[in-house]
Amino acid sequence: TKSLKVLVSSNDYLDSGIKILEEHFTVIKSRYQNFSEEGLTKNKDELFDLIPGCSALVWVSHHPITKELLDRAGPQLKVVSTASAGYNHCNVPELKKRGIKLANTPGVLSAAVAEVAIALMLGAARRFTENLDQVHSGEWEIGFDKVLGQDIQGSTVGIVGLGGIGQATVKRLRGFYVEKFLYTGHREKPEAKELGAEFVDLDTLLAHSDFVVLAVPLTDETKHMINKTTLAKMKKNAILINVGRGDLVNQDDLYDALKNRDIYSAGLDVTTPEPLPKDHKLLTLPNIFILPHIGSATIGTRNAMAVLAAKNVVNALNGKPLITPVLE
Ligand code: DGY
Repeated sequence: TKSLKVLVSSNDYLDSGIKILEEHFTVIKSRYQNFSEEGLTKNKDELFDLIPGCSALVWVSHHPITKELLDRAGPQLKVVSTASAGYNHCNVPELKKRGIKLANTPGVLSAAVAEVAIALMLGAARRFTENLDQVHSGEWEIGFDKVLGQDIQGSTVGIVGLGGIGQATVKRLRGFYVEKFLYTGHREKPEAKELGAEFVDLDTLLAHSDFVVLAVPLTDETKHMINKTTLAKMKKNAILINVGRGDLVNQDDLYDALKNRDIYSAGLDVTTPEPLPKDHKLLTLPNIFILPHIGSATIGTRNAMAVLAAKNVVNALNGKPLITPVLE
């Protein structure tokens, strides 16, 4: 089967995955990353050159898989395996129409992303942005009683999307003596009972939570779910955390809410765009703590994602079921 070609879409993919693919297939790999304007352009051009004749795509980036790319790939393309939990960059109806399978890598990253969700809660609640500025400027004039933060202990934490990441976050937060966990989503989750999380509608969650944690996929329904209207329903002391996708939040509305102190602060691992330009207005705010989309970025987790993405390809091209299917 080494006659089958598999394309790895960027150089941001670990050898543990490449090794598995190379046992079975001819692996072609883009030399570029796509986290800079220049890298992205070069990457897109190169993908266009490399894609014809490939039977599988291992997608290691968030830029969209377009119809044009699929046309260019050709009819032998059987599977797209995205090394991410999110698959908002994959045009599912179009893949379905063409009979192309789609796999993602949920589960293996839940712990790492939950850890970052908690890091963001701490960073936003304890004002890390302002406090780090003091350290870097050498001016610690503000003193203990000026940069006062908020406690996680005793708080109400509202999880929007009690999936793998949401559940992992609640489990880890139990040691922080949270008073109450609320969650919302399409339906009640059987796991919630054991986690001690109460199912409520979004409005109730927004009205009662000290921390609102977004852990939902980006879809037409969830796009800009945090906006002027929903921000107005949050408590004055509320802290918004986003580990999903930047577009869950209307950033202009978030900027206004933070600037006017309608909510207390925000902690974001995801923004629109990524990278966020260094002169972006969100970065002028003291009450925001932003990380550069590092949720899954640990050695163990990225290796697990690379391996799972590769195994999905091996299965698909050998006529076996996908391990973590989105579309089969
Ligand atoms: C995911 O898995 O969706 C993360 O954003 C990393 O790609």
